[in-house]
Amino acid sequence: MCGIVGYTGLDVAKNILVDGLKRLEYRGYDSAGVALERVAPNGSTSIDVIRRVGKVAGLESELAAVDADATCGIGHTRWATHGRPSVANAHPHTSCDGRIAIVHNGIIENFAELREALQARGHHFASETDTEVFAHLIEEAYDGHGGREGAHDLLTAVREACTQVVGAYGLAAMCADEPGVIVVARKDSPIVIGRGERGSYVASDVIALIEATRDVVVLEDGQFARLTPEGISYTDAEGAAIEPVVTHIEWDIDMAEKGGYPDFMMKEIFEQPRVVRDTLVGRMVGGELSIDELGLTMEELNLIDRVYVIACGTSYHAGLIAKNLIEAWARIPCEVEAASEFRYRNPIITPSTLVVAVSQSGETADTLAAIRDARIKGAKVFGITNVVGSPVARESDGVIYTKANKEIAVASTKSFIGQVVSLTLLALLLAQVKGKLTTGQVRMLFREIGDTAEQIQHILDTQEQAIHEAACACVDAQSALFVGRGMGAAIAHEGALKLKEISYLHAEAYAAGEMKHGPIALIDPGFPVIAVATRSPVYDKTVSNLKECEARGAKIIVVATEGDADITEIADHVIYIPVVRDAFSPITATVPLQLLAREVAIMRGCDVDQPRNLAKSVTVE
Ligand code: F6R
Repeated sequence: MCGIVGYTGLDVAKNILVDGLKRLEYRGYDSAGVALERVAPNGSTSIDVIRRVGKVAGLESELAAVDADATCGIGHTRWATHGRPSVANAHPHTSCDGRIAIVHNGIIENFAELREALQARGHHFASETDTEVFAHLIEEAYDGHGGREGAHDLLTAVREACTQVVGAYGLAAMCADEPGVIVVARKDSPIVIGRGERGSYVASDVIALIEATRDVVVLEDGQFARLTPEGISYTDAEGAAIEPVVTHIEWDIDMAEKGGYPDFMMKEIFEQPRVVRDTLVGRMVGGELSIDELGLTMEELNLIDRVYVIACGTSYHAGLIAKNLIEAWARIPCEVEAASEFRYRNPIITPSTLVVAVSQSGETADTLAAIRDARIKGAKVFGITNVVGSPVARESDGVIYTKANKEIAVASTKSFIGQVVSLTLLALLLAQVKGKLTTGQVRMLFREIGDTAEQIQHILDTQEQAIHEAACACVDAQSALFVGRGMGAAIAHEGALKLKEISYLHAEAYAAGEMKHGPIALIDPGFPVIAVATRSPVYDKTVSNLKECEARGAKIIVVATEGDADITEIADHVIYIPVVRDAFSPITATVPLQLLAREVAIMRGCDVDQPRNLAKSVTVE
């Protein structure tokens, strides 16, 4: 939700900033802008701000025409929260006299009162954003006001401004009076900092600076950094110097590029066999399932008598699958809740409650708030996330990292598969600890999860034409229904979300047995019903429900198991997946639905990697 970058060093900053912003565009793409230092022939410095509504490409064209050889600058790509997308609301924002420029990711909760007070003191606001108060607060702290002596030091001024702000921020600031200096602050919004051979870098995500360095510092809440061309210093909230922890990033930029695929979504769907394999690596040690990072002893795990899975969106759907597995195998009651609801309820939590927080980005505001709430109430919290060192990872008692690697397309695909595999392992572990499955059974099931990697590959290799034909049947529809029963219902929910978010075709998911209680009224000739009807204990029931839809003229598309020739009697289009145990069907049956959604979106002319109104990290409520 908004991406920020900054560079100060030996090279021309504008190109580095634009490259960084392009890599961060998944975080928001309503508008983009940069602030660049300008040195006049007489040696005086000022700050130029260039902003555009729309994607970074627009800003890039504008900057190409600008003669700017600045070697220090900051940039921003925005996902609008306060204030519609417009040039005035685009970052960077500046102080009244334009000498201080800032970029910000996060939300300032007390901005209205701060703004009112600043206006009363004579500050003029140029935007509707919450962020702009930060620029004015820093200006006051820098110059002094109301009889207070100014700090005349950007780092001190930023630190003072932060004490007045309630909310979340990843902030980078520069001041015309301190050439070459960028000051960075962080609270609840990600900031990574790196030192390359030719300068110092800051960004919201490591992906924007990995070409310069793989050794990065993940700034902690309440810490500050001061970047200059020569180096970086770190301080805490009191201004005391601190020694940063350097993290080495293993993956390289090739892993985050399209690699010959037409879009990131396609590339990420095709990476899923690897994600399954990588997520399983190191999990079977000496014939025993091993998840050491959970941070709980076997005795503590054995005491767990209730599980909540809390998550949002696609991650919530991974939770629906986990519920089925945890209850079936471990026989522990498991609830799945949208984090945005959980945090405002009063759920029953005791010390023997386990809360599993699932979040690809590890930054989702609602999920984080729910984690904090659950811990205060005494629950143990496991995080399942894709981002090392993310807030979800840091605030949980234990964490399982899905091995999806960087996911760029806004719609989650490979991280969902990583989540499902990780949750499946967790369910197996709980079942083993509770004595509901033997070690031998766990080993056998573990092997079968591994087999799904090849099964996904087989789907990717063989079903392209069938998926294309199914997409043709949906492309002109106004609406579509996804149905299934048991695991199939959970998969249907994810299929519907994928379709609506990237193709803007309205789609809903229902447990197939619920159709006759209302949704079947929607069906008229040609209405697409997309069903997950793989071989499972509820296969016959699902087929009966589909017959009811067929009788009313629905166009029926089915994800079915190879060898199921009978399904063609009711289905207009069939996408076949290999035979798989019902428990693991979400790992494979979701894949054709991801491809179907992508194909429909492409046919409808949509940007599959950056669908409108969305952002990859949702750091606001
Ligand atoms: C859909 C999608 C979103 C996210 C949701 C939660 O494709 O990606 O629904 O799943 O915003 O995000 P995380 O998992 O980062 O907490």
